[in-house]
Amino acid sequence: MRVEVFADDEWAGAVARRWIDRLGTKPDLVMCLPTGNTPRPVYAAMAAAVEVGEVSFAGATIFILDEFGGLDVGDPGRCDTMLQRDLLDKIDLPPTGLMKLDPDAMDVDADAAAYRRLVNEAGLDLTIVGIGGNGHVGLNEPGTGPNSTTRRVVLSPATIAAHHSYNTAGPTVEWGVTLGIDELMRSTEIWLIANGRHKSTILRDALEGPIGPGVPASLLRNHSRSAALLDAGAASLLDLDA
Ligand code: PGA
Repeated sequence: MRVEVFADDEWAGAVARRWIDRLGTKPDLVMCLPTGNTPRPVYAAMAAAVEVGEVSFAGATIFILDEFGGLDVGDPGRCDTMLQRDLLDKIDLPPTGLMKLDPDAMDVDADAAAYRRLVNEAGLDLTIVGIGGNGHVGLNEPGTGPNSTTRRVVLSPATIAAHHSYNTAGPTVEWGVTLGIDELMRSTEIWLIANGRHKSTILRDALEGPIGPGVPASLLRNHSRSAALLDAGAASLLDLDA
């Protein structure tokens, strides 16, 4: 995995520039995108680029990486609400270009299996993920192996606690649905994005510790075109000369 570090105030723009480049090369780019706090400045930079006509999502497809269960549609703690607010409301992606997991489906397992088929048939070109404080990617919690696929998951206490930062109006979340490591690893490219010192310890574990299910983000190091795009704070504990 390539590790690239940017000054704190240049990180979002640098990630956005690279993303604009990918969309310029392939306007029908198929992406898997995360939600939460990390991507917000990157999404703001992409929205600004769309506004000035520097990039377009008109021909693109976006698959949401994961979703929390048990929250009302529109709850600020739902991933689809966050993506809508932080990105979709400000870009030119047509409604048909958005693919979502449905935690309210009658049969969540069947919906997850159908989503997996859709993702694999479409073929992800670019997957962007954040990292949880416990090393999760998507909602692939510690203990998740490389063969995991799209499914319903029980959330770890750390993820449940972190979810409160999304100002949810709903009940405490206990479960979610997520793409598995298997689908993420099929993506042509994977970017692990992180900013802030609060992510530095888990990034050291994920990027310099053993590769394995204990820190699911570490599994992305086995991908030949994966990159960790970090700001200086997030990278502050890495041994970059190693
Ligand atoms: P955050 O979440 O971006 O809100 O820190 C990251 C994650 O849990 O993957």
